[in-house]
Amino acid sequence: MADTVIEMVVLTGAGVSKESGINTFRDAEGEWTKYRIEDVASPEAFASNPGIVHSFYNARRAHLLEAEVQPNAAHRALVQLEEVLGDRFMLITQNVDDLHERAGSRRVIHMHGELLKARCTHCGAVTDVTVDLGQGESCPTCAQENTLRPHIVWFGEMPLQMEEIFQALGRCSHFIAIGTSGTVYPAALFVEHASKSGATTVELNLEKSENARSFGESIYGPATTVVPQFVESYLRRRV
Ligand code: OAD
Repeated sequence: MADTVIEMVVLTGAGVSKESGINTFRDAEGEWTKYRIEDVASPEAFASNPGIVHSFYNARRAHLLEAEVQPNAAHRALVQLEEVLGDRFMLITQNVDDLHERAGSRRVIHMHGELLKARCTHCGAVTDVTVDLGQGESCPTCAQENTLRPHIVWFGEMPLQMEEIFQALGRCSHFIAIGTSGTVYPAALFVEHASKSGATTVELNLEKSENARSFGESIYGPATTVVPQFVESYLRRRV
């Protein structure tokens, strides 16, 4: 990957999974209107009250696994891009769901972690999890008890694979942000980084994001409409 020219970097946020039945964070019904970030999504909360943190993520994991939560047309359109562009395409998501993978995306960078994974605070091993986490489990790798935490990047923690991401942003020709409010850093800075390197930048969102002014072009509408249209038009213009 290091020497490959990157044609397109796509960053997705909660808006891409909204029409699959997963709540966003900052819309009227969003998760952060019902919970305080510092109570459920910080290392301090986990240290002082792991039960509350586990129950927040257990509920979200159980919901993700419900039969009606399925990838939508926006997830599927991004699979098409990967199929055509191969390793000149990079998909980065802030989402912790697995809907990109279920749609068929093969290489997805989950910069904020994954709901269906647990991490051992003792040995660091990351393992698959589809059941509730709580007190009492032991790590399948090192066998220590009560050391599993959700594999989620909490506020104050470093997002994952940042070196790889910034390398790609520094040499991509297109940067597309989909369904993200542009309020959480460092993801909100990606557009400026790509832009400085000469990339064409486009945001696809339901409404203006916080950093809309940093994009060369903005297309507004529900992801299941605007993403397939964008992909179709991009691939048609490319041939
Ligand atoms: P937000 O909830 O902040 O923003 C979601 C964006 O999606 C908003 O701009 C909405 O307008 C847009 N949106 C809603 N429905 C849509 C639809 N059907 N089609 C297209 N767009 C739609 O979510 P993120 O920007 O993803 O971090 O939030 C970033 C991070 O903040 C998350 O990864 C999470 C959160 O705290 C962690 O948990 C670490």
